Amino acid sequence: MKVTSEAKAFMDLEENYGAHNYHPLPVVLSRGERCFVWDVDGKRYFDFLSAYSAVNQGHCHPAIVGALKEQAERLCLTSRAFYNDSLGPYEKYIHDYFGYDRVLPMNSGAEAVETALKLARKWGYQIKGIPENEAVIVGCEGNFHGRTITIVSISADPEARGGYGPYTGGLEIIPYNDVEALAALLEKKAGTIAGFLVEPIQGEAGVRVPDDGYLKACYNLCKKHNVLFIADEVQTGIARTGKMLCCDHEGVRPDIVILGKALSGGVLPVSAVLADDEIMLTIHPGQHGSTFGGFPLACRVAMAALEVVREEHLAEKAERLGKIFREEMGRIKSPFIREVRGKGLLNAIVIVPHQGKEAWDVCLAMAENGLLAKPTHHYIIRFAPPLVITEEELREAIQIIKISIQSLE
Ligand SMILES: Cc1ncc(COP(=O)(O)O)c(C=O)c1O
Repeated sequence: MKVTSEAKAFMDLEENYGAHNYHPLPVVLSRGERCFVWDVDGKRYFDFLSAYSAVNQGHCHPAIVGALKEQAERLCLTSRAFYNDSLGPYEKYIHDYFGYDRVLPMNSGAEAVETALKLARKWGYQIKGIPENEAVIVGCEGNFHGRTITIVSISADPEARGGYGPYTGGLEIIPYNDVEALAALLEKKAGTIAGFLVEPIQGEAGVRVPDDGYLKACYNLCKKHNVLFIADEVQTGIARTGKMLCCDHEGVRPDIVILGKALSGGVLPVSAVLADDEIMLTIHPGQHGSTFGGFPLACRVAMAALEVVREEHLAEKAERLGKIFREEMGRIKSPFIREVRGKGLLNAIVIVPHQGKEAWDVCLAMAENGLLAKPTHHYIIRFAPPLVITEEELREAIQIIKISIQSLE
């Protein structure tokens, strides 16, 4: 890919002064609108990553940016040492929107996951009666819940965990999409298990979609054994998969829901944990929190972002356009494509290396042709455009993907 000297200068700054914890494509972005982003040289791209599904509402949505500006000029941050006139309305809004008794606001997805784990442990001791310091949380192989020490302790990925020990205890990992594995573990140890933490679709693992009925069966097992079913909907939630929450596809109401990313439409880091009183009220003042968690700016932005999802029918759109996407991608005959999979507008293709070219090369070719996506695990490319994309734009984007793949054959 050709990189101009202006773009290279920005890349060099990151290379020279930033930690090397990411490996970006050689594209330097400076502007975004709806499903498009523009680089520093003015070239336009379809954004098919959407900041890992944070920008479901599209870049710089005027209603969300408007709410941000209005609140920013009035009051940004108060800390939770005082009440403010945005948090309460936001909490009530979230209660009405998702139907949970309460919300605990945080900032990043990882923090919200940590919060859910703390809630599950506290509930395990106080309500379930697990003996002190024996609570176990069960996670799944292939998971991605963030980057903190506890979260990488529950990861089976050597790259994510390697070099960060000693690890947090009280965690068990079972295979994903394996109801029997959960059943067997619960039979053996249900007395000490507080929660089962699961992604309804494993996004970072390469959009691994479990079998139909998996979530429901796991939920039922959790109920049978008095274990909390905790859904990490940070990537799958907020309409991405064709329903407001991905668990809605199976009529599952998790005991704890974890949200992040698109909760703010990609405008601010805003995350949240939803639960009913029995779980949420186990936490008391001084036991958990964050300086920015639920700050006025975040509250106003999140309400505007959720309003956009509802007003623009983004879940229904994701459902309809996702079907078109998978159908059209399935029609592309290429030695590079082994599988097309996904739900709603969270999709991926599994790439087979061909003539020395792999997923990274496909992404470079797509970027050249005006579409941005990124490989995950070297051989899978995730396609997750902003949900505001029109059918016409989606079809144009599919053409770009097709031409790019065929150009490498
Ligand atoms: C399912 C899931 N949970 C948690 C996280 C962590 O979110 P954050 O990067 O905001 O900490 C991610 C991020 O990709 C995610 O996909």
